Amino acid sequence: MRPAHGPKLFTMSIETDPFDLAAEAASTITRVTGVERHDIALTLGSGWGRAADVIGETVAVIPAEDVPGFHASGVPGHSGTIRSLRLPTGKHALIIGARTHFYEGRGVRAVVHGVRTAAASGADVMILTNGAGGVDPAFGAGEAVLICDHLNLTAASPVEGANFVDLTDLYASRLRELAREAEPSLQEGVYVQLPGPHYETPAEIRYLSAIGGQIVGMSTALEAIAARQSGMEILGLSLITNPAAGIGEDPLNHAEVLEAGKAAEPRLAELLGRIVARL
Ligand code: HPA
Repeated sequence: MRPAHGPKLFTMSIETDPFDLAAEAASTITRVTGVERHDIALTLGSGWGRAADVIGETVAVIPAEDVPGFHASGVPGHSGTIRSLRLPTGKHALIIGARTHFYEGRGVRAVVHGVRTAAASGADVMILTNGAGGVDPAFGAGEAVLICDHLNLTAASPVEGANFVDLTDLYASRLRELAREAEPSLQEGVYVQLPGPHYETPAEIRYLSAIGGQIVGMSTALEAIAARQSGMEILGLSLITNPAAGIGEDPLNHAEVLEAGKAAEPRLAELLGRIVARL
């Protein structure tokens, strides 16, 4: 269902309405995959990509640039495809492997286009995954953590116009419970999104910790807000790729973040497989 998104006046421009663009993307996906409705959707961040190969049978893989509104990924180590899977449960899953980050400068509409396309494709559950820094020293590198809430420090919102979208229980407690049934050792943490692309200073990490942040990254909060606006239930999972700045001894670099992700991939894929089997 298309949510209300403000007076027409607000979006009236030469730009395409973002919900119309998502509907166009969804109809391309339906046409190419032959799948009328996708039940769930997943965005696979650093460390989570392998899941696309193991949690179900691939029905079709579409290059991102063939789907309206998507772009080839500008980030090394991030894939650029939309993939349709048939899960062992018989459900259809849409893998959004073409995330646009806020720091790429294409605007918030581009950042949440994948989530809106998932909703337009019929998904009522959105699984958002990412690689993130551990602010809480209780979270070790290589660990998967359930996101229980977030602090959006991007100073941006995907919601346009006077739409006062409720964000309580944004990361659905029902889905977190299902995830813990699949993996009882999963801990939970509050995710902080910063704009990036630079990593944080140690002083910023102390600040994030003081205001209740436990995990820090550059992707998921804006996507979660858009997913809620579109009426989907959200499950968020972070792979801790590194202790955040000043928490560990070492400086941070993207190659090491990707490497930590690679090492965790088989384990995370298996974990996601067990979670989606319960949806
Ligand atoms: N900070 C922000 N984003 C990240 C980090 C980090 O330490 N690690 C992976 N993504």
